[in-house]
Amino acid sequence: MRTLENFSLLNHNTFGVDVTANYFVEYDNITELQQLLGSDLLKENKFFHIGGGSNLLFINDYEGVILHSQIKGKEISKESADHVWIRVGAGENWDDFVDYCVENQLGGAENLSLIPGEVGATPIQNIGAYGVEVKDIIQSVDCIEISTGKQKTFSNKECAFGYRDSIFKQGFRNKYVVCYVTYKLAKHYTPNVSYGSLSTEILNYKEVNIQTVRQAVIAIRKRKLPEPKVLGNAGSFFMNPIIAMEHFLQLQQLYPDIPSFHVSDKHIKVPAGWLIEQCGWKGKSIGKVAVHGSQALVLINKGGANGLDIIYLSDKIRESVKEKFNIDIIPEVNIIFG
Ligand code: EPU
Repeated sequence: MRTLENFSLLNHNTFGVDVTANYFVEYDNITELQQLLGSDLLKENKFFHIGGGSNLLFINDYEGVILHSQIKGKEISKESADHVWIRVGAGENWDDFVDYCVENQLGGAENLSLIPGEVGATPIQNIGAYGVEVKDIIQSVDCIEISTGKQKTFSNKECAFGYRDSIFKQGFRNKYVVCYVTYKLAKHYTPNVSYGSLSTEILNYKEVNIQTVRQAVIAIRKRKLPEPKVLGNAGSFFMNPIIAMEHFLQLQQLYPDIPSFHVSDKHIKVPAGWLIEQCGWKGKSIGKVAVHGSQALVLINKGGANGLDIIYLSDKIRESVKEKFNIDIIPEVNIIFG
């Protein structure tokens, strides 16, 4: 376990916002986490647990303790003729795990290639891309309850996954720390390439297999999404709004090209990137913050922006979308006030 004081979080948030935390603590295993949860440091200070910092926006210095898991390792916990169950430490890098699955011909994670962040965050926001959500491969999530230090394993069903959502963002928000996630991967797997841009990209490859799907997803992401080390960003800043079918049909009369994703008979998901682009924001800047020129859902820190600069642009975008389409777009990024 390591405890650092007055610690800069610059390398722990992909937006590249320069804030500090009073304390930054990294633990290596469950026993250390349990000790930490019972310690005076956490009783006397507020605390917040981060993962890879790829979905966070710090508004100001954090006057408390930032916790970070260094629980590492992956082990095959079960194997059948068709599947392999792998239990992975929360502190492992997500894309390293996807790479491991692809190298070992284990299917299910490849569409989620190159998503920045760590394993522990994957169930919390149910990461998703190119027609797959991580809930499709999560078997269970091993957690520690913050108030008691007791271990609890959540089944897939108990996680109550939804679009970028889970019980860990709702009723159990800040109540549990994720320590391990068990994924169920397929030994014989049919790649899923039905998602619009992936179905086109995959045509550039001779074969459709786990390796080429990973390569195709990486190619699309590199083209559309800025590299955080070069241009600070947190991926999609907003969630794609889910609206009533009647509202969508009215909008379709006015905008026949409006794209959509099926949700149910009564609801439909509209890409926020399209809404934002229609409002004229794509590629536009206010001060040190800009809307990315290749994907309007991504806000970028052009250098030296602070959290309030980013929120200012986000609020302006939300106002435009509300005014033009009567739709509220909600940030996907976790906004942290110190
Ligand atoms: N679109 C535009 N202009 C834009 C961006 C998008 O018109 O600037 C329209 C296009 O019609 C496009 C459609 O929106 O066909 C969908 O775009 P894209 O495939 O890029 O996906 P998205 O809905 O904008 C979501 C996820 C991404 C994920 C992609 C691919 C959310 C909030 N975002 O974006 O996730 O990579 O699908 O599956 O659901 C992330 O969460 O950080 C993230 C990058």
